[in-house]
Amino acid sequence: MKEQVRAEIERDKIKAGLAVVIVGDDPASRVYVNNKKKACELCGIQSFEYALPAETTQEQLLELVDTLNKDSKVNGILVQLPLPKHLDEKAVIEHISPLKDVDAFHETNVGKIMIGNYSFLPCTPAGCMELIHSTGIEVAGKECVVVGRSNIVGKPMAMLLLHENGTVTICHSKTKNLAEVCRRADILVAAVGRPNFVTADMVKDGAVVIDVGINRLENGKLCGDVKFDEVSEKAGYITPVPGGVGPMTIAMLMKNTLTAARIQNG
Ligand code: GUN
Repeated sequence: MKEQVRAEIERDKIKAGLAVVIVGDDPASRVYVNNKKKACELCGIQSFEYALPAETTQEQLLELVDTLNKDSKVNGILVQLPLPKHLDEKAVIEHISPLKDVDAFHETNVGKIMIGNYSFLPCTPAGCMELIHSTGIEVAGKECVVVGRSNIVGKPMAMLLLHENGTVTICHSKTKNLAEVCRRADILVAAVGRPNFVTADMVKDGAVVIDVGINRLENGKLCGDVKFDEVSEKAGYITPVPGGVGPMTIAMLMKNTLTAARIQNG
Protein backbone atom coordinates (compact mmCIF):
# COMPACT_ATOMS: atom_id res chain seq x y z
CA MET A 1 0.00 0.00 0.00
CA LYS A 2 2.87 2.38 0.77
CA GLU A 3 4.38 1.62 -2.64
CA GLN A 4 1.01 2.35 -4.22
CA VAL A 5 0.87 5.73 -2.46
CA ARG A 6 4.41 6.50 -3.61
CA ALA A 7 3.60 5.54 -7.21
CA GLU A 8 0.49 7.78 -7.22
CA ILE A 9 2.42 10.71 -5.77
CA GLU A 10 5.13 10.34 -8.43
CA ARG A 11 2.71 9.77 -11.30
CA ASP A 12 0.48 12.76 -10.48
CA LYS A 13 3.36 14.95 -9.23
CA ILE A 14 1.57 15.60 -5.94
CA LYS A 15 3.15 17.57 -3.10
CA ALA A 16 1.86 16.14 0.14
CA GLY A 17 2.88 17.11 3.67
CA LEU A 18 2.09 15.61 7.07
CA ALA A 19 2.65 17.44 10.36
CA VAL A 20 3.20 15.13 13.33
CA VAL A 21 2.90 16.67 16.77
CA ILE A 22 4.25 14.87 19.82
CA VAL A 23 4.03 16.31 23.33
CA GLY A 24 6.27 14.92 26.09
CA ASP A 25 8.50 11.88 25.98
CA ASP A 26 6.28 8.79 26.09
CA PRO A 27 8.61 6.10 24.66
CA ALA A 28 5.85 4.21 22.80
CA SER A 29 4.63 7.45 21.18
CA ARG A 30 8.21 8.25 20.13
CA VAL A 31 8.47 4.87 18.36
CA TYR A 32 5.11 5.40 16.58
CA VAL A 33 6.06 8.92 15.48
CA ASN A 34 9.43 7.73 14.15
CA ASN A 35 7.66 4.97 12.19
CA LYS A 36 5.22 7.50 10.74
CA LYS A 37 8.10 9.75 9.65
CA LYS A 38 9.90 6.80 8.05
CA ALA A 39 6.74 5.86 6.15
CA CYS A 40 6.42 9.44 4.87
CA GLU A 41 9.95 9.29 3.54
CA LEU A 42 9.26 6.01 1.76
CA CYS A 43 6.07 7.40 0.19
CA GLY A 44 7.54 10.73 -0.92
CA ILE A 45 5.44 12.67 1.59
CA GLN A 46 7.11 15.58 3.37
CA SER A 47 6.93 15.22 7.15
CA PHE A 48 7.13 18.05 9.65
CA GLU A 49 7.77 17.03 13.23
CA TYR A 50 6.81 19.22 16.17
CA ALA A 51 8.22 17.73 19.38
CA LEU A 52 6.92 19.82 22.27
CA PRO A 53 7.95 19.58 25.94
CA ALA A 54 5.64 17.79 28.40
CA GLU A 55 4.82 21.08 30.12
CA THR A 56 3.35 22.66 26.94
CA THR A 57 0.11 24.49 27.77
CA GLN A 58 -3.26 23.96 26.11
CA GLU A 59 -3.04 27.46 24.59
CA GLN A 60 0.39 26.79 23.08
CA LEU A 61 -0.79 23.53 21.55
CA LEU A 62 -3.96 25.07 20.12
CA GLU A 63 -1.87 27.91 18.70
CA LEU A 64 0.38 25.40 16.91
CA VAL A 65 -2.67 23.59 15.52
CA ASP A 66 -4.00 26.97 14.29
CA THR A 67 -0.71 27.64 12.49
CA LEU A 68 -0.72 24.17 10.91
CA ASN A 69 -4.37 24.55 9.84
CA LYS A 70 -3.32 27.64 7.87
CA ASP A 71 -0.06 26.23 6.44
CA SER A 72 -0.57 25.23 2.81
CA LYS A 73 2.45 22.87 2.88
CA VAL A 74 0.69 20.83 5.57
CA ASN A 75 -2.09 18.63 4.18
CA GLY A 76 -2.49 16.38 7.20
CA ILE A 77 -2.17 17.05 10.93
CA LEU A 78 -1.64 14.27 13.43
CA VAL A 79 -1.40 14.95 17.14
CA GLN A 80 0.00 11.79 18.69
CA LEU A 81 -2.13 10.48 21.56
CA PRO A 82 -2.14 10.11 24.49
CA LEU A 83 -1.34 13.69 25.47
CA PRO A 84 -0.01 14.53 28.95
CA LYS A 85 -2.85 14.53 31.53
CA HIS A 86 -3.12 18.32 31.91
CA LEU A 87 -4.06 18.73 28.23
CA ASP A 88 -7.60 18.39 26.89
CA GLU A 89 -7.32 15.84 24.06
CA LYS A 90 -10.87 16.32 22.84
CA ALA A 91 -10.48 20.11 22.52
CA VAL A 92 -7.21 19.65 20.61
CA ILE A 93 -8.74 17.17 18.15
CA GLU A 94 -11.74 19.43 17.56
CA HIS A 95 -9.33 22.29 16.82
CA ILE A 96 -7.79 20.43 13.86
CA SER A 97 -9.38 21.35 10.54
CA PRO A 98 -11.60 18.39 9.52
CA LEU A 99 -10.01 18.64 6.04
CA LYS A 100 -6.57 17.96 7.56
CA ASP A 101 -7.73 15.43 10.14
CA VAL A 102 -5.96 12.38 8.66
CA ASP A 103 -6.67 10.36 11.83
CA ALA A 104 -10.42 10.92 11.28
CA PHE A 105 -10.84 11.67 14.98
CA HIS A 106 -12.70 15.00 14.55
CA GLU A 107 -16.45 14.90 15.32
CA THR A 108 -17.24 15.93 11.75
CA ASN A 109 -15.29 13.00 10.34
CA VAL A 110 -16.67 10.57 12.94
CA GLY A 111 -20.18 11.69 11.93
CA LYS A 112 -19.36 11.13 8.26
CA ILE A 113 -18.20 7.60 9.04
CA MET A 114 -21.54 6.90 10.76
CA ILE A 115 -23.46 7.70 7.58
CA GLY A 116 -20.92 6.12 5.23
CA ASN A 117 -19.95 9.39 3.52
CA TYR A 118 -16.31 9.91 4.27
CA SER A 119 -13.07 11.33 2.88
CA PHE A 120 -10.89 9.78 5.57
CA LEU A 121 -11.34 6.42 7.21
CA PRO A 122 -9.82 6.08 10.69
CA CYS A 123 -6.43 4.48 10.11
CA THR A 124 -6.55 1.47 12.44
CA PRO A 125 -10.06 0.22 11.54
CA ALA A 126 -9.35 0.88 7.84
CA GLY A 127 -6.12 -1.13 8.13
CA CYS A 128 -8.06 -3.98 9.77
CA MET A 129 -10.54 -3.94 6.86
CA GLU A 130 -7.64 -4.19 4.38
CA LEU A 131 -6.31 -7.20 6.29
CA ILE A 132 -9.76 -8.82 6.28
CA HIS A 133 -10.12 -8.16 2.52
CA SER A 134 -6.71 -9.74 1.92
CA THR A 135 -8.11 -13.10 3.07
CA GLY A 136 -10.60 -13.06 0.20
CA ILE A 137 -13.40 -13.72 2.70
CA GLU A 138 -16.49 -11.59 2.13
CA VAL A 139 -17.79 -9.69 5.16
CA ALA A 140 -21.44 -9.61 4.02
CA GLY A 141 -23.59 -11.89 6.14
CA LYS A 142 -20.74 -12.93 8.44
CA GLU A 143 -20.88 -12.85 12.23
CA CYS A 144 -18.43 -10.12 13.20
CA VAL A 145 -17.49 -9.56 16.83
CA VAL A 146 -15.51 -6.52 17.95
CA VAL A 147 -14.13 -6.70 21.50
CA GLY A 148 -13.64 -3.13 22.73
CA ARG A 149 -15.69 0.02 22.20
CA SER A 150 -13.17 2.86 22.04
CA ASN A 151 -13.89 5.87 19.84
CA ILE A 152 -10.60 5.29 18.01
CA VAL A 153 -10.96 1.58 17.21
CA GLY A 154 -13.96 -0.40 18.50
CA LYS A 155 -16.82 1.88 17.45
CA PRO A 156 -15.54 2.85 13.96
CA MET A 157 -14.43 -0.75 13.35
CA ALA A 158 -17.97 -1.96 14.00
CA MET A 159 -19.29 0.68 11.62
CA LEU A 160 -16.95 -0.31 8.76
CA LEU A 161 -17.95 -3.97 9.16
CA LEU A 162 -21.60 -2.90 9.17
CA HIS A 163 -21.10 -0.87 5.97
CA GLU A 164 -20.01 -4.13 4.35
CA ASN A 165 -23.14 -5.86 5.64
CA GLY A 166 -21.56 -7.89 8.44
CA THR A 167 -23.77 -8.86 11.40
CA VAL A 168 -21.89 -6.94 14.06
CA THR A 169 -21.72 -7.37 17.83
CA ILE A 170 -19.65 -5.05 20.04
CA CYS A 171 -18.46 -6.56 23.32
CA HIS A 172 -17.10 -4.68 26.32
CA SER A 173 -16.33 -5.08 30.00
CA LYS A 174 -20.03 -5.47 30.94
CA THR A 175 -20.77 -8.10 28.27
CA LYS A 176 -22.17 -11.34 29.69
CA ASN A 177 -20.91 -14.64 28.23
CA LEU A 178 -18.08 -12.92 26.37
CA ALA A 179 -16.42 -16.21 25.39
CA GLU A 180 -19.68 -17.52 23.98
CA VAL A 181 -20.27 -14.37 21.91
CA CYS A 182 -16.68 -14.46 20.58
CA ARG A 183 -17.06 -18.13 19.61
CA ARG A 184 -19.87 -17.14 17.23
CA ALA A 185 -17.51 -14.88 15.27
CA ASP A 186 -16.44 -15.62 11.71
CA ILE A 187 -14.46 -12.38 12.00
CA LEU A 188 -13.12 -11.48 15.45
CA VAL A 189 -11.45 -8.15 16.14
CA ALA A 190 -9.72 -7.76 19.52
CA ALA A 191 -9.17 -4.18 20.66
CA VAL A 192 -9.28 -4.32 24.45
CA GLY A 193 -5.72 -3.43 25.43
CA ARG A 194 -5.29 -6.48 27.68
CA PRO A 195 -2.42 -8.89 27.00
CA ASN A 196 -3.41 -12.37 25.77
CA PHE A 197 -7.08 -11.69 26.58
CA VAL A 198 -8.52 -13.79 23.73
CA THR A 199 -7.79 -17.48 24.25
CA ALA A 200 -8.36 -20.48 21.96
CA ASP A 201 -11.62 -21.50 23.69
CA MET A 202 -13.10 -18.12 22.59
CA VAL A 203 -12.39 -18.67 18.89
CA LYS A 204 -14.34 -20.58 16.25
CA ASP A 205 -12.43 -22.97 13.99
CA GLY A 206 -11.30 -21.16 10.84
CA ALA A 207 -12.20 -17.65 12.07
CA VAL A 208 -10.41 -14.52 10.85
CA VAL A 209 -8.75 -13.05 13.95
CA ILE A 210 -7.51 -9.46 13.89
CA ASP A 211 -5.42 -8.39 16.87
CA VAL A 212 -5.31 -4.62 17.43
CA GLY A 213 -3.66 -4.78 20.87
CA ILE A 214 -0.09 -3.73 21.53
CA ASN A 215 0.78 -4.53 25.15
CA ARG A 216 4.16 -4.50 26.82
CA LEU A 217 4.75 -7.37 29.24
CA GLU A 218 6.86 -7.09 32.38
CA ASN A 219 9.74 -8.84 30.58
CA GLY A 220 9.72 -6.00 28.04
CA LYS A 221 8.25 -8.12 25.21
CA LEU A 222 5.35 -6.88 23.10
CA CYS A 223 2.20 -8.95 22.81
CA GLY A 224 -1.28 -8.50 21.45
CA ASP A 225 -4.75 -8.96 22.94
CA VAL A 226 -4.85 -12.48 21.45
CA LYS A 227 -2.92 -15.46 22.81
CA PHE A 228 -1.22 -16.01 19.46
CA ASP A 229 0.35 -19.45 19.98
CA GLU A 230 -2.87 -21.23 20.84
CA VAL A 231 -5.31 -19.15 18.75
CA SER A 232 -3.18 -19.51 15.61
CA GLU A 233 -3.76 -23.29 15.82
CA LYS A 234 -7.49 -22.69 15.50
CA ALA A 235 -7.93 -19.54 13.40
CA GLY A 236 -8.12 -19.60 9.61
CA TYR A 237 -6.24 -16.30 9.49
CA ILE A 238 -4.58 -14.32 12.28
CA THR A 239 -2.49 -11.14 12.50
CA PRO A 240 0.76 -11.15 14.50
CA VAL A 241 1.85 -8.54 17.07
CA PRO A 242 4.07 -6.78 16.30
CA GLY A 243 3.92 -6.66 12.52
CA GLY A 244 0.18 -6.92 11.82
CA VAL A 245 -2.29 -4.10 12.41
CA GLY A 246 0.40 -1.55 13.43
CA PRO A 247 2.10 -1.28 10.03
CA MET A 248 -1.30 -1.28 8.32
CA THR A 249 -2.39 1.69 10.45
CA ILE A 250 0.61 3.65 9.21
CA ALA A 251 -0.01 2.63 5.59
CA MET A 252 -3.58 3.94 5.88
CA LEU A 253 -2.25 7.19 7.35
CA MET A 254 -0.14 7.62 4.21
CA LYS A 255 -3.20 6.97 2.06
CA ASN A 256 -5.24 9.54 4.01
CA THR A 257 -2.47 12.13 3.68
CA LEU A 258 -2.46 11.62 -0.10
CA THR A 259 -6.27 11.98 -0.14
CA ALA A 260 -6.00 15.17 1.94
CA ALA A 261 -3.43 16.62 -0.49
CA ARG A 262 -5.66 15.78 -3.47
CA ILE A 263 -8.71 17.43 -1.85
CA GLN A 264 -6.80 20.55 -0.79
CA ASN A 265 -5.15 20.95 -4.18
CA GLY A 266 -8.48 20.65 -5.91
N1 GUN B 1 -1.87 6.87 19.49
C1 GUN B 1 -1.98 5.54 19.25
N2 GUN B 1 -2.50 5.32 18.02
C2 GUN B 1 -2.71 6.54 17.47
C3 GUN B 1 -3.22 6.96 16.21
O1 GUN B 1 -3.60 6.19 15.34
N3 GUN B 1 -3.26 8.32 16.03
C4 GUN B 1 -2.88 9.21 16.99
N4 GUN B 1 -2.98 10.50 16.71
N5 GUN B 1 -2.40 8.84 18.16
C5 GUN B 1 -2.32 7.51 18.40
